[in-house]
Order: sequence, then C-alpha cells, then structure tokens
Amino acid sequence: MPSVLVTRHVPDGGLEPLLSAGIEPVVRAVDTPLTGPELARAAAEHDALVVLLTDRVDADVLAAGARGGRLRVVANVAVGYDNIDVAAARAHGIAITNTPGVLTETTADLAFMLILAASRLCSSAEADLRGGRWTSWSILSYLGRDVTGATLGIVGHGRIGRAVARRAKGFAMDVLHHARQPTGEPGYVADLDELLERSDIVSVHVPLGPATHHLIDAARLRRMKPTAVLVNTARGSVVDEEALAIALEEGRLFAAGLDVYEHEPVVHPRLLAAPRTVLLPHIGSASVETRTLMARMACANVVAVLAGDPALNPVT
Ligand code: GLV
Repeated sequence: MPSVLVTRHVPDGGLEPLLSAGIEPVVRAVDTPLTGPELARAAAEHDALVVLLTDRVDADVLAAGARGGRLRVVANVAVGYDNIDVAAARAHGIAITNTPGVLTETTADLAFMLILAASRLCSSAEADLRGGRWTSWSILSYLGRDVTGATLGIVGHGRIGRAVARRAKGFAMDVLHHARQPTGEPGYVADLDELLERSDIVSVHVPLGPATHHLIDAARLRRMKPTAVLVNTARGSVVDEEALAIALEEGRLFAAGLDVYEHEPVVHPRLLAAPRTVLLPHIGSASVETRTLMARMACANVVAVLAGDPALNPVT
C-alpha cells in the first residue's frame, strides 16, 4: 500500500478520494508548517505528499525525495505553486499538481470584498467603532471612494481576474485588463503603466514568478492616481510592500486591500501601521466548500498518479 503524507490538517471530507481508493493517509497530529529538514525527511519516506502553500518544496526536498526512491507526486492544495521548485521536480520525474478552478469564485468574491472594503475604509471605521472612538455621526467622517461606476484595472487575465471582471459588471464599472499576451477581449490594455494610470481601482491576479516579482513596485505605484485603491489577492511578492506602505503614508495612494504578503505570516510593520488599509490573513479561498474541494482535488491527483495514470491537474 502506498504511503501518503498529508502535511497539514484539511477540512472534513477532504481526504475522501484517498480513502475511497483504499489509501489511509498519514495525517500529522499537529497543524503546523513542517520545517525544511522535516519536509525532506517526509519526501524520502513517502510515495506522495499532499502539501499546503506553507510547505516550501524546494530543490533539497525534491532531491531527498528522489534519493529516497519512493516519491512520485507532490499535490499542492492551492492553485498557486510558487512554493514548489517545479523545474527540480521535473528533473527528478516527480509530478506536481495544483487545484485550479475550484477556488476561482470564492477568491474573486474576496477580491471584490477587498475592493469594496478598502474603497470604503471599512477596517479603520470598524476599528474606531470597536475602540469607542465613534462619538457622533459626521458628514465628513470615513469618506471613501465610490466603487460603482469606477474604472477597474485587472492585472492578469486568468480565471480569477476574469471572475472579478464579471462581478464588476454588476457595479457598472468600466473594466480594463492587462496581460502579457493580447487577449483579444474588450478592455485589453497592452501597457501596464497605462492601465495603472487609467484605473480608479487596481486588482492584482497574476501568479508569482520571476517576471511578476515586485511587478507593482515604487515606480508603478507612482503611476497610479492618488485617489486609487490597490487590491492584492494573488501573492504578496507581486507588490513591493514597503513601497506600497510609503505611498499610503505619503497620500500618493488612497487605500489598499491585501490578503497576501511577502513574508507570510509576517506582515511588514510599515504596512501594519500604514493608513487606509484592509489587511486579511490570506483567506482568499477560505470557505468550507472551497477548501474541501481543494483538498479533494489534491487527493484525487495523488490517487491518479499512484495508480499509474496521468495527473489530473499537472503543473508543468
Ligand atoms: C491560494 O493562495 C492558492 O494559491 O490557492
């Protein structure tokens, strides 16, 4: 019987594809991230790993898996896979899989929630209420910016970006999008700087990789309107956090809504202190239904590969 390690706890029902295939996975007693050496040991000892985005499956881990002679697949319970060295996996013939599709709508919902919450300064308003600082309704208090009718610039034209665009139509927004390749669709803007200059709200939906690291840097933030709002539900390192904090401090950007950070779970102290931010702890896909589907999808990939079939959602 193959040995499958699930590195973190997953929702009830998430392991069902493994159990139906007669595989009783090894589930750790504690729900904490594994260290690099722990992950390397696990890679050497198991036929498959079901990992989360907190697991850094780097070249050392994959080399340990190859040396152990058992590891055939690492199934990431996430659509993003910047936590995995895919090239090293390919070199060792270890399959990598992800969970595309199942989290699209849930993540787009959260992105839209951040668009609304950041534009309307919800976090600082609620903090004042909870802190007893709401002393009187005032016509000048908590003045946000309208979302309805605003121009939304979507960076990236993948599943989640397109799902955010669909929501924006319901808010009568003018929707622009930027992608490296022309999409042939209305609203395409070839030049990212132009999209940033024209947008009232910018929402980031690109995977993290060498080409997108600090894609939104100090220079690009300067392109944005001082009344603009930036939302990031993709990966923290797509945005230069320090530059963003400075832009907010200096009033060169109206507000920001973030769900992801460069060094999770550490949040840049300057960002924590910056004004007009809504900061969430990476909960884009966090609904019971979606997280269960993600875990099932990862497990179904493990079952397929261990049965000698092609992975259902291979990352190449
Ligand atoms: C979450 O961030 C994911 O990539 O699924």
